[in-house]
Amino acid sequence: MKRGRFITLEGLDGAGKSTSLEAVQGFLANRGVDVLVTREPGGTPLAEKVRGLLLDTQEETVDPMAETLLLFAARAQHVGAVIEPALARGQWVVSDRFTDATRAYQGGGRGVDGQAIEALACLVHPGLEPDLTFYLDVPVHQARRRIGGGDLFEEREAAHLDRFERERASFHERVRAAYRAIARSAPRVRTIDASLPEDEVARRIVSMLGPFVEEYR
Ligand SMILES: Nc1ncnc2c1ncn2[C@@H]1O[C@H](COP(=O)(O)OP(=O)(O)OP(=O)(O)O)[C@@H](O)[C@H]1O
Ligand SMILES: [Mg+2]
Repeated sequence: MKRGRFITLEGLDGAGKSTSLEAVQGFLANRGVDVLVTREPGGTPLAEKVRGLLLDTQEETVDPMAETLLLFAARAQHVGAVIEPALARGQWVVSDRFTDATRAYQGGGRGVDGQAIEALACLVHPGLEPDLTFYLDVPVHQARRRIGGGDLFEEREAAHLDRFERERASFHERVRAAYRAIARSAPRVRTIDASLPEDEVARRIVSMLGPFVEEYR
């Protein structure tokens, strides 16, 4: 059985990952590819519980390393129980976020040491990185408007926003800068201008997926 491919979608909250994921899933299904769609943090019952801990607002300040370790704990479960078995049986896995999000949010946003993150990545998913990553690049304020967070972050306490979405604009600027640095250094990452209309974003993603599928066959 030929091993499946691992595709991830990355970007700020509101960049359009979930929207694009549908385009990716639809395109692959059309080509007869057996696809498993999942997300991080989460993707298994235990990891979804950890997602709740991470996204809910907490009464105490969350230590950045504690946050990072929780993410990798959820990821260990997700990789072991879902991602690896699927790839091994030949399914393609499309995940809404993976370790690049930890590099960007905890590394870039919170200032966690990049070498520590890479060491954890090595422990938790040795030899496993996505084969292809779409990074949906969009200015912070545009992403913000899409999730209804208020243009100038004056509505940081809005009830529907999670613990990360409530962070100030400067946090999200650091996350974006980290994502852009990853995209420049890793050849597996394709940067998509996600400020464009939805159908154009989907068209660009699909145009890059076509050759990727052909290459695999
Ligand atoms: N290219 C686009 N142009 C305009 N609006 C868009 C575009 N892509 C997505 N949207 C809209 O922006 C909102 C956020 O999109 P989506 O949920 O796909 O983002 P996301 O990256 O998954 O965000 P989150 O990280 O919060 O889950 C949705 O209402 C969606 O319809
Ligand atoms: Mg989403």
